[in-house]
Amino acid sequence: MSRLEGKTALVTGASRGIGRAIALELARNGASVAVNFQSSEAKAKEVADEIAALGVKSLVVQANVAVSQEARDMVKKVLDAWGRLDILVNNAGITRDKSLRKLDDESWLQVIQTNLNGCFFTVSAAIPAMLEHAFGRIINISSMNGQIPAYGQANYSASKGGVIAFTRTAALELAKSNITVNTVAPGFTETDMFTEVPEKIQDQIKQRIPMGRFGKPEEIAKAVVFLAAEGDYITGQQINVNGGAYM
Ligand SMILES: NC(=O)c1ccc[n+]([C@@H]2O[C@H](COP(=O)([O-])OP(=O)(O)OC[C@H]3O[C@@H](n4cnc5c(N)ncnc54)[C@H](OP(=O)(O)O)[C@@H]3O)[C@@H](O)[C@H]2O)c1
Repeated sequence: MSRLEGKTALVTGASRGIGRAIALELARNGASVAVNFQSSEAKAKEVADEIAALGVKSLVVQANVAVSQEARDMVKKVLDAWGRLDILVNNAGITRDKSLRKLDDESWLQVIQTNLNGCFFTVSAAIPAMLEHAFGRIINISSMNGQIPAYGQANYSASKGGVIAFTRTAALELAKSNITVNTVAPGFTETDMFTEVPEKIQDQIKQRIPMGRFGKPEEIAKAVVFLAAEGDYITGQQINVNGGAYM
């Protein structure tokens, strides 16, 4: 029997990059997976098709997680379709990098609204159903840069540090109900988000990674699935998947 057979999952921002890898890894382990996207509909459908080809159920759900009602409606759609939500992975995230002197209100607010507030909206919407079934595995994707300073990322660092702090309190409050809440914090991982970083800076970053290479989305996904499938007694914790870049 597959480790996650009979379980249902929702992965935000699953059309590309790390979210896509997480959705596929959950499906490989037997979970039915709802694939959320904001604008890349065709890519989200491709992911859902790949999931269906693995012999489990898939669902495509469009929503901007930064908008409370859309995030909550997305969770409701999954519950309406499958009756339960066992695994919630808050992965959707954006960057709007600018040095603090140039950082405008909009770039600050967009990043906090998507990366941090979006996380609260989905968790808040999922809690009643998880309580009803006395089961929940919530995994929030933070970042190495939520733990260490990163030039040009005051907004992003604040959002990801906030995700870590939010995770711990949510874990404390939900522990008695068999709902675990944990964080996976990737280091530099090869996705569209990271290719926006200029090549020269990428080379400098690589030299600071003890393992000498960037991460792959699949390597982040394995940590997420470990928490979902094996993390019954793990809550309020954080797994850093970063090649040793931050110890
Ligand atoms: N890549 C890295 O080096 C790295 C390092 C540390 C942490 N992370 C974190 O890992 C997560 C995934 O990053 P990634 O590198 O895979 O990013 P990515 O390649 O840029 O993909 C971002 C995903 O999030 C979705 N998304 C963005 N804003 C959204 C919104 N408002 N509502 C719903 N979906 C939204 C996108 O959907 P559309 O395709 O529809 O636009 C896409 O599926 C993020 O939280 C990021 O902060 C990444």
